[in-house]
Amino acid sequence: MAVADLLDRFGSPLYVYDEALLRERCSKLTTALAPATVLYAMKANANPALLQVIREEGLGIDAVSIGEVLLARRVGFLPDQISYNGNNVTDDEMRAVVEAGVHVTVDSLSQLERYGRLFPATRVGVRLNPDVGDGHHDHVITGGPEAKFGIDPDDLEDARAIASRTDVEIDGLQQHIGSGILDVKKFLNAMEVMLRVAERLPGLKFVDFGGGFGVGYKPDETDFDVGWLGVQSDALLDRFTAKEPDVTFRFEPGRWLVAPCGTLYVTVTSIKRGKRHTFVGTDSGFNHLLRPALYGSWHTIENVTRPDAPVERVSVAGNVCESGDLFGKDRPLPKPEEGDILAIRDAGAYGWSMASCYNLRPRPAEVLLESAGPRLVRERESLEGISH
Ligand code: LLP
Repeated sequence: MAVADLLDRFGSPLYVYDEALLRERCSKLTTALAPATVLYAMKANANPALLQVIREEGLGIDAVSIGEVLLARRVGFLPDQISYNGNNVTDDEMRAVVEAGVHVTVDSLSQLERYGRLFPATRVGVRLNPDVGDGHHDHVITGGPEAKFGIDPDDLEDARAIASRTDVEIDGLQQHIGSGILDVKKFLNAMEVMLRVAERLPGLKFVDFGGGFGVGYKPDETDFDVGWLGVQSDALLDRFTAKEPDVTFRFEPGRWLVAPCGTLYVTVTSIKRGKRHTFVGTDSGFNHLLRPALYGSWHTIENVTRPDAPVERVSVAGNVCESGDLFGKDRPLPKPEEGDILAIRDAGAYGWSMASCYNLRPRPAEVLLESAGPRLVRERESLEGISH
């Protein structure tokens, strides 16, 4: 179905996802990293229809909240296919996760202490801060001295003491050094650091290296090479399993799986040719795709309606009442006219999932392109729903 027909039928702005591409990426990733388990970090995109596809492709789930745990369960993931890695969580939330039968990984010594008091004679994982971090922006570097996550490897003895005092077994170690990593070497380096720490805890059941695999948003960038990671990490993991034959390995990617599968289509509402900039106004904004405003992230923008028009340098803006509400600044774009449809690419990760109804504008509908045709997988939020 042509994009204009999709927007006629489902309205604008619209998130559209490609099922075939999602399946292809799931299978590419699980093949590259086998025999490790791949847990999809559902914070990247928690649309139930996408989760369903990901479940069918054999991945598990990395959840960070009870909301994510319950949705994953509703979609059909079994409790032992879900791993919960909450940060600064309440006792009530931990209780609900444990009641759902889902394994918990704690993020601090104090959380370990509380977990142990609440659930003696159970198993728990511990998140490490390996003192190395990486990512596309400071906000998403989650390892190293500035990060609030995980326990210092030097505190491992204290963790063991808490575990034995409260009668829980530390069965796994987890880390996540950051998001949007493009350099496989940096990821491998963090894996090595983690395995050195893991050697100090004999009898572990799992070691989870986190996610963070980046994608090429800019034309000159390429995706994090998962095939190369698979090849390069083999020897490292084999060496560890020789000593710890019962251990399993896990990865928790989110973005890599879904980012390129999604496009946000918006419609041009007005064009302002000013002294310094030409602003192309659209019917969406950072309320629907926050990444450019929050991190200065690049998303490729295309003019779907007139791809062959002469190119003009324009800033593509939203309709939110802030100057930071730009999808792209001073970009070459086939000269747009009012009513044109623009495609904002690679919006499948941290797009709808970080959207809000700021300015009381409803969040967009979501459509999945399946082999049988397009399917509405989330209705546009209603005005009534957000304006009371
Ligand atoms: N595991 C943990 C513990 C995480 O905190 C995250 C992401 C992931 C896995 C998945 O990371 P991924 O493979 O998607 O990079 N909103 C930001 C990204 C924040 C990521 C937060 N944690 C963005 O739009 O770039």
